[in-house]
Amino acid sequence: MSLPRPVLVVDYGAQYAQLIARRVRDLNVYSEIVPSTLSTEELLAKDPAAIILSGGPASVNADDTPVPTADLFDADVPVFGICYGFQAMAVALGGTVEATGMREFGGTALEVSGESRLFEGLPVGQSVWMSHTDCVSRAPEGFTAVARTAGAPVAAFEDLVRRHAGVQFHPEVAHTPHGQAVLRHFLYDIAKLEPTWTMNNVIEEQVAVIREQVGDRRVLCALSGGVDSSVAAALVHRAVGDQLTCVFVDHGLLRAGEAEQVEKDYVAATGINLKVVDATERFMTALRGHTDPETKRKIIGREFIRVFEAAAREVDAEGHIEFLVQGTLYPDVVESGGGTGTANIKSHHNVGGLPEDMKFTLVEPLRTLFKDEVRRIGTELGLPEAMVWRHPFPGPGLAIRVIGEVTSERLEILRAADAIARAELTASGLDRSVWQFPVVLLADVRSVGVAGDGRTYGYPIVLRPVSSEDAMTADWSRLPYELLARISTRITNEVAEVNRVVLDITSKPPGTIEWE
Ligand code: XMP
Repeated sequence: MSLPRPVLVVDYGAQYAQLIARRVRDLNVYSEIVPSTLSTEELLAKDPAAIILSGGPASVNADDTPVPTADLFDADVPVFGICYGFQAMAVALGGTVEATGMREFGGTALEVSGESRLFEGLPVGQSVWMSHTDCVSRAPEGFTAVARTAGAPVAAFEDLVRRHAGVQFHPEVAHTPHGQAVLRHFLYDIAKLEPTWTMNNVIEEQVAVIREQVGDRRVLCALSGGVDSSVAAALVHRAVGDQLTCVFVDHGLLRAGEAEQVEKDYVAATGINLKVVDATERFMTALRGHTDPETKRKIIGREFIRVFEAAAREVDAEGHIEFLVQGTLYPDVVESGGGTGTANIKSHHNVGGLPEDMKFTLVEPLRTLFKDEVRRIGTELGLPEAMVWRHPFPGPGLAIRVIGEVTSERLEILRAADAIARAELTASGLDRSVWQFPVVLLADVRSVGVAGDGRTYGYPIVLRPVSSEDAMTADWSRLPYELLARISTRITNEVAEVNRVVLDITSKPPGTIEWE
C-alpha cells in the first residue's frame, strides 16, 4: 500500500507553502510540498493529482526567478496558482503581468465578475488577503477572468477545459474568509479530485506499511508523554502489538499529573507494554548547583541517554530489537530538506536526542503528517483526550521554566502554579486557542508583598500564554482579564511561596516562547 497521488505544492519561498498543504489536507486531499527547483519533468514524475504554485517574494518580471515552463500546463494535470504562482502561471501561458506600482497589502475588497466555478455560491463582494505589487492585467488565452480588485484587474482566472485556475490573493490564510471555499472549488469542482485522504485511511495505510517494514521483529519506543511519541507508538502498537515495548523515563520534570497520565491512562487506552523508569533522584542530583540554561539542558540530555540506554538494555538483553519509533512530523521533514533517508534522529523535540551508537532502524509513521492530523489519528486510536490535545512541552521539562537552580522545592512551587493556570485555562474553554502556556518561576528573584497583617518576601510567577502556528514565531495570547485575574488570585492564595504573578507580553521575536 502506498500514499495517494499527491497535490504538489511548489514552494516559491513563501512562508505559506506548509499552510497551503495543510489546507488541502483539511479538504481530505493528500498534499506534499516540493521545492521550486524541480523541473517540469521532475514534477510530473511524481505523478501528481494536481499542482499548486505557491506565493513567493520574487517578481515574475525579474531575471532568474523560478517560473514553470509552458509544457507543465499541457500535461493534463490541473494547476492552481496563488499570488506569485498565479502571476508565474499567467506569464508562462502568455498573459500579461505588469508592475503598476500600486501595492495591495492586507485585507482587500474583491469583486467576483459573473459566473465562475471558483467562486460558485460565494458573495460577489468579499474580503481577501493580498500581498502584491505586480498584477495580472490580461489573462492568458483560454482563461476567463473571474474577479478583480482595485489594484488587480485580473484577480482570479479559470480554464475549466484544461482544469487550471489561479488567484492573486491568499486563500490559505484565515484573513480570507472564503479562501477555503475557493480552494475546495478548485480541488473538487475544477480539478475533479475526490476527498479520500481521511485519518481512517491513513491509519490503515500506516499499519500496513509498519507491518511490512517490521515483520515479526521487535520495536522500541521512548515515550515522552507528548502527542507525537504517544500517537506514533499507538500506531505501531496497532500494527505489531506486543512486538513493541515502550520506555518512559520519568525525569521528575513533568507537570502535575503527566507521569500518571502516561503510566495509567495511556496504558489503559492502548494496552501497550510499558517500562517506566523513575529517574527523578538521578536528575535532581545531576542538576544540583547548576544555573546556566544550556548546561541544564546538556545535563538532562546526557542523563536521559544514560537512563534510556540502561532501560533499553534491560528490555533487550539479547540485543534483538532492531527498530526504534520516532514521532517525526512532516514539518520536521520539510524543514530538514525533505530528505527521505532514515538516518538522523531529530534532537530538538526529544530530550537531547538519543545515543548515536544505538544502531536502530527508524520507524516513523507520522513522517507525512501535520500536527492536527496526528491529533485526529490519536483521537481515532482512542488515546486520552488530555494527551491528544496536550500543548507542546519541551523535553527538558520544567527545568527550563525554573529560572536558576532546579530543586525539588522549586519544582513543587512551579508545579502547583502551573496546575492552577492550566486548570483555569481548561475551565474557560480556551485550551485550543492557545498554542502553549508556559508558567515560569523566577527562582532567583524575590519581592516584597503583603498578606494578612504581615510582610511577605516571595517569588514571582510569569504567565507566558502564546499563540502560534509553528513555534517559529509567536504572539502573546490576549487572554480575558477575568481569566488572568482568577489565575493570579488562585496562585497567590494557594501557593504560599508566590506573592506576585506577572504576564509576559513579548512577541517572538524578539522574545522566545520559553524563558530559558
Ligand atoms: P522557544 O523558546 O525557542 O521555543 O521559542 C520554541 C518551541 O520549542 C520548545 N522548546 C524545546 N523543546 N527541548 C525541546 O524539546 C528544548 O530544549 C526546547 N526549548 C524550547 C518550546 O517549548 C517551544 O514549543
